[in-house]
Amino acid sequence: MPPEPDISGLNTSRRYNQWLGGKDNYSAERESTATIVSVLPNMMAAAREGRAVVLRAVRHLVADRGIRQILDVGAGRPLSPNVHEVAQSENPASRIVYVDNDALVGVQHRGTTVSGSDGVTEFVDGDLLDVERLLADEQLRAVIDFSQPVAVLLGSVLHLIDDDQRAHDAVRALIAALAPGSYVVIVHGTFDTLPSEVQSKVRALIATGEHGVYRARSRDEVAAFLDGLEVIEPGIVSSVEWQPGEETTTSVADAMCWVAVARVP
Ligand SMILES: C[S@@+](CC[C@H](N)C(=O)[O-])C[C@H]1O[C@@H](n2cnc3c(N)ncnc32)[C@H](O)[C@@H]1O
Repeated sequence: MPPEPDISGLNTSRRYNQWLGGKDNYSAERESTATIVSVLPNMMAAAREGRAVVLRAVRHLVADRGIRQILDVGAGRPLSPNVHEVAQSENPASRIVYVDNDALVGVQHRGTTVSGSDGVTEFVDGDLLDVERLLADEQLRAVIDFSQPVAVLLGSVLHLIDDDQRAHDAVRALIAALAPGSYVVIVHGTFDTLPSEVQSKVRALIATGEHGVYRARSRDEVAAFLDGLEVIEPGIVSSVEWQPGEETTTSVADAMCWVAVARVP
């Protein structure tokens, strides 16, 4: 039996889905969102920019850099278009594995991730903080061939890990498994772009512990995840500066985000 949704408390993955325009959220998420938006009026638009840049990076990697395999870690609830739709529209043979540690995300993905005749789309329950187990997963290894290039997506997930050491160890372990020519995409929340009085208010809100973990990191801290990799143009920039599209409407200040796409040499 799939797990019953627990709607008694805040679920940050459901709240994020609300920010992206999804309908699967309850009073705990709506109340938390209202409080956050009172301090950060552009939070929902920033989330949408963060999501949009993941899809632009996927299109670029598949269309222009020959990527055929994608591992989307911390995939979130499915929204259309999702990563497999963008990748397979560029190359129908694209192979995608979504990973999330929220069991309900898995239930929702299983209803929507349908493999086409050429490509493969799969969901695997897994934890970024247990990379060894994740990479040993048979279902994952049936789709992803680690002797060939893979794009690993870490979209808005690293800032949900408070412990710097564990976050770095996890990313390092993932990178170590990748063949040359692979890519890592990081979309990471930051408060670098906010005025100091707003930063203080947001940090006070996070410190209440009522709104879930949000470990905003500076540009240098994000860069440290990519040690030894070649960050491709335009470098580590705001989501709104990374190959901006028609949907890009927010300012760098309001986007509150660092994005990097880096190649494994
Ligand atoms: C904010 S959503 C991001 C979704 C998507 N990657 C995007 O960029 O739009 C973060 C997701 O990461 C998942 N998550 C958080 N910590 C995780 C972990 N340690 N391992 C795997 N997934 C995790 C959450 O359950 C949530 O669905």
